[in-house]
Amino acid sequence: MSEPTKASSGTRNPRDHSHHSVDGRPLSHHSATSLDDHHARSHHSDTGGANGHTHSDLPFDGHIHTYIPDMDEDRIYMDYNATTPLEPQVIQVVTEALHEAWGNPSSTYTPGVKAKKIITQARENVARMVGGKADDIIFTSGGTEANNLVFHSALEAYRESCRTAEQRGERHRHENSSTSAWPLPHILVSNVEHDSVRLTAEHLLKDTTADVTSVAVSKVTGRVEVEDVLAAVRSSTCLISIMMANNETGVLMPIRELCQRIRFVNRQRQHRILLHTDAAQAIGKVRVDARDLGVDYLTVVGHKFYAPRMGALYVNGPGTTTPLYPMLFGGGQERNFRPGTENTPMIAGLGKAAELVNSNLTEYETHMLDTRDYLEKQLEAVFGRERIHFNSHFPDSETLPNTCNMSILGPGLQGRKVLASCRRLLASVGAACHSNRGDRPSHILLSCGIPEEVAANALRLSVGRGTSRDEVDLVVEDLKNAVERLEELN
Ligand SMILES: Cc1ncc(COP(=O)(O)O)c(C=O)c1O
Repeated sequence: MSEPTKASSGTRNPRDHSHHSVDGRPLSHHSATSLDDHHARSHHSDTGGANGHTHSDLPFDGHIHTYIPDMDEDRIYMDYNATTPLEPQVIQVVTEALHEAWGNPSSTYTPGVKAKKIITQARENVARMVGGKADDIIFTSGGTEANNLVFHSALEAYRESCRTAEQRGERHRHENSSTSAWPLPHILVSNVEHDSVRLTAEHLLKDTTADVTSVAVSKVTGRVEVEDVLAAVRSSTCLISIMMANNETGVLMPIRELCQRIRFVNRQRQHRILLHTDAAQAIGKVRVDARDLGVDYLTVVGHKFYAPRMGALYVNGPGTTTPLYPMLFGGGQERNFRPGTENTPMIAGLGKAAELVNSNLTEYETHMLDTRDYLEKQLEAVFGRERIHFNSHFPDSETLPNTCNMSILGPGLQGRKVLASCRRLLASVGAACHSNRGDRPSHILLSCGIPEEVAANALRLSVGRGTSRDEVDLVVEDLKNAVERLEELN
């Protein structure tokens, strides 16, 4: 491993994140294990707020030069699967929209027309990013809402399908039932879904609104296997919701193959099975094409690809080809599927971030892959192969280019302890929404077959578009020192 050096702001690679405080505050070295108190907002690294520049003074060249104020100078952020800072260009369009496109997009005078135009453009950009048509995009507050909208729609569609069948005088064809009543709708998810899917499904089950099967991922591949999903399908199955990429392991799920098989199954069924993938972690890291995948619904989460806290749901022909039932009722926006006066500035930001993904995905992907692979190589070089276990390595499984989930083996080296002992690294032990799980190992890693004592030591390091090799060196050095300190205590 090359000797880690502390890069000064003058010598940092222009792609690097800068870690200089806005007001030149002295640096503290307290530890932190979550991003909650380190909200990542971004400015230009070379000319940040300390020099009196605002974002709009800055030249934008399509690359991220993220400046993260409120973050101690020496901190290095490697938790991009939890959230991402905003691209400077995104901040620029959000700010412009706040100033200039404040009108109600439904109004016919200039500020309203301007807002509408921005929304139309953003919809086109997001559609292009996920391989859909503009009309297939419904803006939502975020991924949680989009996922809930899918579940709600699938249940309504099943009920509608039962009503229609009844009107036709059909009885249900249920394999094990002696009654003519329609069975509860059945939903299939994997056992490694994000909480916005897992808990929605659990709630429906508890409420006896739906039956739910949680299909276990393979302990060999870390993936949901298509055959296992097919084996769990019932005559009452109305929805299969499987994430495109797991947020802790980065493992990519076989969505395309699953859709192909289900399309065939659907030909012979009374109730259509709808297919949903939550692509929160995949977008901006790998190519995502809803039509090529063959899904009915696909969730878009802005804050995972340098956009604001804003989301969207791709629906293949909403209300025509694919059922979509609103959860909210109101002023008719989003063609009544998700009414409420549009959040023009955040939609503008989402659209700009999508445009950047459309133009630069290959570059982002190549850079993240190179950086992640370098990180793994350096970890092995410093700790030795026998001391590092990569929880994100599974034979024959493809993974996201940016995610390294690993454990440094040994007693007293639980992930939380190691992170708390680090002076630079900002990362996590797993999904941010599980940060209240105390010292219990990640259920996702356990589900993937990682032994309990290994999972207990897990750290999820996720690199971003601007993470540099210099930063990787500093982080590996930081981890080495943290482990040495902990071992002295043991
Ligand atoms: C896979 C996945 N789905 C959904 C979400 C939730 O998205 P949001 O935070 O926009 O509600 C996240 C984000 O944490 C996620 O990682």
